[in-house]
Amino acid sequence: MDWGIKNRLSRIIKPDGHTVMLAIDHGYFLGPVSRLEDPAKTIKPLLPYTDALMLTRGVLRNCVDAVNDIPVVLRASGGNSIAGKDLSDEGITLSMKEAVRLNASAVALSIYIGTDHEHQTLINLSRLIDEGEEYGIPVLAVTAVGKELEKRDARYLSLSCRIAAELGARFVKTYYCDDFEKVVKSCPVPLVIAGGPKLKTETDVLRIAYEAVRQGASGVDMGRNVWQSQNPVAMIKTLRAIGHEKASLSKAQKLLEELRKER
Ligand code: R5P
Repeated sequence: MDWGIKNRLSRIIKPDGHTVMLAIDHGYFLGPVSRLEDPAKTIKPLLPYTDALMLTRGVLRNCVDAVNDIPVVLRASGGNSIAGKDLSDEGITLSMKEAVRLNASAVALSIYIGTDHEHQTLINLSRLIDEGEEYGIPVLAVTAVGKELEKRDARYLSLSCRIAAELGARFVKTYYCDDFEKVVKSCPVPLVIAGGPKLKTETDVLRIAYEAVRQGASGVDMGRNVWQSQNPVAMIKTLRAIGHEKASLSKAQKLLEELRKER
């Protein structure tokens, strides 16, 4: 692996092979989503417990103080919105020069396998990877499902993750699912999981994080299930215990309860 790519990736995925990333890029197609209306306010208390921030350049420039030494994964695809016809209709929205200017540790792009825009998003991914490799910037492929959350099964996610890795993505963001191990085993690059829309209980969040890591994921890149939780700091600290300290599920549950009381 080229030194620049390796160095940037190692800022995100720590020496223990794990990472707790915080996703706050949702505004790029959802606008001011609940609890992310004022990104600066949402991010500030979570920053000390975050290994890398996944966000757009607009939020980075306007809502994150440049003195922070935090690795950033810049969203590089978009051009769609929740009000539009089709969420899969994305293009590349960030140049690699801009990513360098903003000191990005990686750039992220969504692919939509099995949709009308499958080809377009895979060509976008390939182009971004070509540019990223030239500049030493790793690309994170996001196996997006848009509104079709039911697509998240091992067969579909294995297909999506493997295609992303075959095209050259240095790491992949996907979803947890039953038989997640199959997804991990058939993908030759590190995987992190999203949380998706807010789950019923916070134990459900801990469970998917714990199971994903146990079955071989490199960690999480969660958004809504952290910053929409009752106590976001308690949640991210507990996710760190799962990711970096190999906490069991019951230990994580107890820790979350204790941290909640610390308010
Ligand atoms: C899509 O909205 C974004 O790429 C998010 O970063 C991703 O879905 C992860 O966030 P969440 O855990 O809220 O699903």
